Amino acid sequence: MQITAIATQKGGAGKTTTAHNLAAAIFLITGVKPLVIDLDPQGNLTTSCGYKKEDLSKTILEFFDGEPLERVAVRDDRFDLIPSNGFTADLEIKLVTTTARETVLKRLLKKLEGRYEHVLLDCPGNLGLITINALVAADRVLVPVQCEFHALGGIADLERTIEELKEAFNLTYDSFEAVATFFSQRLTLSRDVRNELRRRFTSRLYDTPIRTRVALAEAPSYGEDIFEYGTTEGAEDARNDYRTVAKEFLKRGAANGIS
Ligand SMILES: Nc1ncnc2c1ncn2[C@@H]1O[C@H](COP(=O)(O)OP(=O)(O)OP(=O)(O)O)[C@@H](O)[C@H]1O
Ligand SMILES: [Mg+2]
Repeated sequence: MQITAIATQKGGAGKTTTAHNLAAAIFLITGVKPLVIDLDPQGNLTTSCGYKKEDLSKTILEFFDGEPLERVAVRDDRFDLIPSNGFTADLEIKLVTTTARETVLKRLLKKLEGRYEHVLLDCPGNLGLITINALVAADRVLVPVQCEFHALGGIADLERTIEELKEAFNLTYDSFEAVATFFSQRLTLSRDVRNELRRRFTSRLYDTPIRTRVALAEAPSYGEDIFEYGTTEGAEDARNDYRTVAKEFLKRGAANGIS
């Protein structure tokens, strides 16, 4: 079982979009359903999958309280989801007073060992205790970096946090993998930022960037991933990008010997 935290404290960088579409692509490529956990109290991933807040009786709150997966997960066609729904804002506060508060998620996911090949964690856009739980539980960290001015802002904080957690909790992963998002070939700024990311992250940067395509923003309003949504050229581009990123993700995971 390979646990990947999709994290960056930068808001709107594409964490949720990547968690959703990477999960769908992994299923389409491997035929095996991943588990996706919506760790963001805003519940954007959950609503992107078509669930309404009031549909959900159980969420990550109950999962963190130790309720079994069967009772909290909802089943999507391509992945299982532990949802979040706005009432989950309490989780961050509850964690503060929990014993061994940084390792709660790690301990819970240990119990799921062998049930999934991939677990994807969609983190909130801050470096609070929920994100820390994800970084400590993870075998890999995938950071979406938006191709815009100040793309690298905040990356140093994330790197420092990861280094501190690695030392404190004996984590074995190498720093993180980065995928460029909101890429636009026709924009000089976008190409420049991508080159800067290549210099900064070298082989840690995925070869394929995710291009800016409006279909990626539209699909969630229909509760669909990009593989279910739209017949436009833009939707096809977005499918190609996420399919290629997913192949690279699986290849890197296999190369790291994580299973
Ligand atoms: N490649 C893309 N092209 C066009 N729109 C995109 C793309 N990726 C994401 N979006 C849209 O941009 C917005 C932000 O993306 P997303 O929610 O995935 O970011 P996030 O990092 O999860 O944000 P937050 O920090 O708030 O959780 C969403 O409306 C999403 O639909
Ligand atoms: Mg998000």
